[in-house]
Amino acid sequence: MSGIERLGLRALRLVGPERAHGLALKALRSGMAGRHTPITSPRLKTTIAGIDLPNPVGIAAGFDKNAAAVPETLATGIGFTEIGAVTPRPQPGNPKPRLFRLTEDQAAINRFGFNNDGMEAIHANLTRRAANGIVGVNIGANKDTEDRAADFVAVLRRFHGAVDFATINISSPNTERLRDLQGRAALDALLGRVLEARDALTGETGRRLPVFLKIAPDLIREDVAEIAACCLAHEVDAITATNTTLARDGLRSAHAGQQGGLSGAPLFVSSTAILRDLAREIGGRIPLIGVGGITSAEAAYAKIRAGASAVQLYTGLVYGGISLGRQIA
Ligand code: FNR
Repeated sequence: MSGIERLGLRALRLVGPERAHGLALKALRSGMAGRHTPITSPRLKTTIAGIDLPNPVGIAAGFDKNAAAVPETLATGIGFTEIGAVTPRPQPGNPKPRLFRLTEDQAAINRFGFNNDGMEAIHANLTRRAANGIVGVNIGANKDTEDRAADFVAVLRRFHGAVDFATINISSPNTERLRDLQGRAALDALLGRVLEARDALTGETGRRLPVFLKIAPDLIREDVAEIAACCLAHEVDAITATNTTLARDGLRSAHAGQQGGLSGAPLFVSSTAILRDLAREIGGRIPLIGVGGITSAEAAYAKIRAGASAVQLYTGLVYGGISLGRQIA
């Protein structure tokens, strides 16, 4: 981390975490992080679901929900980024405060609840400025929707020509009953509808958009096996493991009791265990993306060893700065 970056991080600690994140995005957008070509080498290059990555280190969903700073995020030297979660209609999310720093634990708890500007505005943000690199969209469902699958399909259709992959997010703990979609019958029906829509779009446009599924860490072995079987049956293009956790083991920070999803260092062990279980079930037939508690190159490499073909990070950036992705790569 540079001296300027360290100072910037220290200054951001002086304001509330949600405001700090907004300021960090503004600073990024203003060019403060500089322009770096992606870190790459023949050993770092990798291909996931037909997508060529210069390196396997990406920024996770939730960092840039509204696609405010996509070119600048990519210009930090990382391999790919994921915007969103995007829902069809804009929504405010939960009341503030809804993001908490757990500094002693190098962690965060959030209960944002898919606050976002909606697919039309975010699509406009994304396509207004050219971005050089790989971009995915994380798709959510509106809180008050009657038909979640229809929401996923609507966002998929909207972003089809604008992104390199789309991630179906059924693992946020902050939208009521969303994670019920991880059950076998519900997942089967959901994947059936979303992938049918994707295939129809392929027919219409000649371009097949890879569709990923993002899962929670709060699952038992049998759940993972069922999800894996379902993804194999539907030929999902990649699985992202994991989202934030509801578990609160071993935390020291004052905010440990806040409701929401826990991310950062304390998530590393459980999310990597799920990744490893998943890798065993999938047996190399679907590529996996490892997310959760990556704070160092060692942690990123541990995800790769557990079966990931690429990794993503978010909370690590809060403590290590935006250059962490590049350093890990
Ligand atoms: C997230 N995450 C997330 N994931 C997702 O699929 N859609 C989303 O909209 C969000 N939003 C979001 C907001 C905030 C404030 C945080 C901290 C996280 C989860 C994120 O992508 C990632 O899966 C977890 O945070 C675990 O990785 P880290 O943060 O431990 O590296």
